[in-house]
Amino acid sequence: MWKPAERIKYQALCDNWPSAAEAAQSTLFSPLAFANLSLTNRSWVPAMVPWRATAEGEVNDDVVDWYRRFAQGKPGAIVIEATGIRDIPSGPLLRIGSDRYIDGLKRVVEAVREASDGETKLYIQLIDFLPIRRRPERDKFLGRFLPITDSHRSQLGISDEAELRAALQALDDAALEQVLTAKEWENLQLGYRERVTDTELPAVAELPSQLPGLFADAAERARQAGFDGVELHYAHAYTMASFLSATNHRTDGYGGSLAGRLRLPLEVYSAVRERVGSDYTVGCRMLADEIIDGGSRLPDAVHFAKAFAAAGMDFISLSRGGKFDDAKQPRPGNAIYPYTGRSGYECMPGYISDPQGPFGRNVTPAATIRSALRTAGHQTPIVVAGGLYHFFQAEQLLDEGSGDIIGLARQALADPDWPLKVREGCGSEVRICRYHNYCEGLDQKHKQVTCELWDREALDEPDAALSHDGKRRLLAPAWQR
Ligand SMILES: Cc1cc2nc3c(=O)[nH]c(=O)nc-3n(C[C@H](O)[C@H](O)[C@H](O)COP(=O)(O)O)c2cc1C
Ligand code: SF4
Repeated sequence: MWKPAERIKYQALCDNWPSAAEAAQSTLFSPLAFANLSLTNRSWVPAMVPWRATAEGEVNDDVVDWYRRFAQGKPGAIVIEATGIRDIPSGPLLRIGSDRYIDGLKRVVEAVREASDGETKLYIQLIDFLPIRRRPERDKFLGRFLPITDSHRSQLGISDEAELRAALQALDDAALEQVLTAKEWENLQLGYRERVTDTELPAVAELPSQLPGLFADAAERARQAGFDGVELHYAHAYTMASFLSATNHRTDGYGGSLAGRLRLPLEVYSAVRERVGSDYTVGCRMLADEIIDGGSRLPDAVHFAKAFAAAGMDFISLSRGGKFDDAKQPRPGNAIYPYTGRSGYECMPGYISDPQGPFGRNVTPAATIRSALRTAGHQTPIVVAGGLYHFFQAEQLLDEGSGDIIGLARQALADPDWPLKVREGCGSEVRICRYHNYCEGLDQKHKQVTCELWDREALDEPDAALSHDGKRRLLAPAWQR
């Protein structure tokens, strides 16, 4: 994980919580209603992949229990993890790419309704991502995977394939880099990764004709499963964010200019809206800043947010960074992980930081975007996230108009009872996130995500579900009042 050069260590504050009476008067615990969005309070658990689904992407008991645990804290809303809109093998990541997923997803909806006494709204994050492969071993790549071309043959003056592969293996890296194309070299160094600009590939060229229907189908299934709405994943390293990116130089009308980059995200939204109807909650998660060289910056985000608001989205949730472009080189056998570079740091800032610190790095950009929306006459609620954990921090942000809804991702993982504890005047009992990113390390290794603050506690408790290796509990212990 990338860390700022200054390496200043920060610790979240643990004191100064409101009484129940103060909490009751707060903006955070006041309801919010806008278009189809209606929340009992303004706390929001953003999408977090916990690596709990079955290998076929189906809901199992662990998935149901995971979301039930968040619902027991009664946040205003929970967004279910990034859920694949295609029915393609993608490991234990949730999928909604076929009707056969609906019954499993209904179980999550029912569990959240019951555990929150109907106080928590449940949305599902719909994601499309392009193929990516693990970084290959050098010898295997050159000995087997690399398609041999005339260019390789002529550069080395060898026509026999086996002989040529052996000659490539014998080259040192500097010489090999000269022989391979930039893309082949990247495939060896980082693992193969498809981009939205690879329009020579038919599947990539056809994304604009495929994705609106795929997202609309998924949104319809979400509605059938009983979700209160959908969040279109237009953020981080994935397909839709890549269309919005300033690095998208497609020349087919779906890249280049701001209008070109916006075109598919707007067409996806229109298809979804048409399918689910005007009375269903549809919003998106997008980046306030990509934080990469040549990427979209805040002015681009302002432009996009205004377009989404004008199109009729019910909320806009803001994140930042989280890109493949500046991610660290993975070890052979591992896949590149989009939270290891500077943009990854900005997405999930850790406690070792710069003078700005890890808390609320997206607040000022969010305020700029929100203010631009209001000036343009849009009241669309803005969800802010990134290093938010304290009631007074949240309250100040809301009162200053930097955002409308408070996203607590890692803080909710550290203590899913945060909203309930704070509301009841028991904030001093909250387990405060340390921002050491132990959870992120698990995510990177595709291991069941837990929190270091509670996953070794009371392992012998009857019914405590444990991780595959039996060393960690999978759910935060119940709040002992
Ligand atoms: C384990 C883990 C998984 C995540 N998965 C997703 C995801 O599926 N979709 C998404 O938009 N963001 C995802 N995020 C990012 C969070 O939603 C959030 O934006 C980020 O952690 C910063 O907020 P925080 O400081 O409150 O944690 C994930 C974060 C973590 C820690
Ligand atoms: S493991 Fe827990 S305390 Fe550490 S960053 Fe993640 S949520 Fe916070």
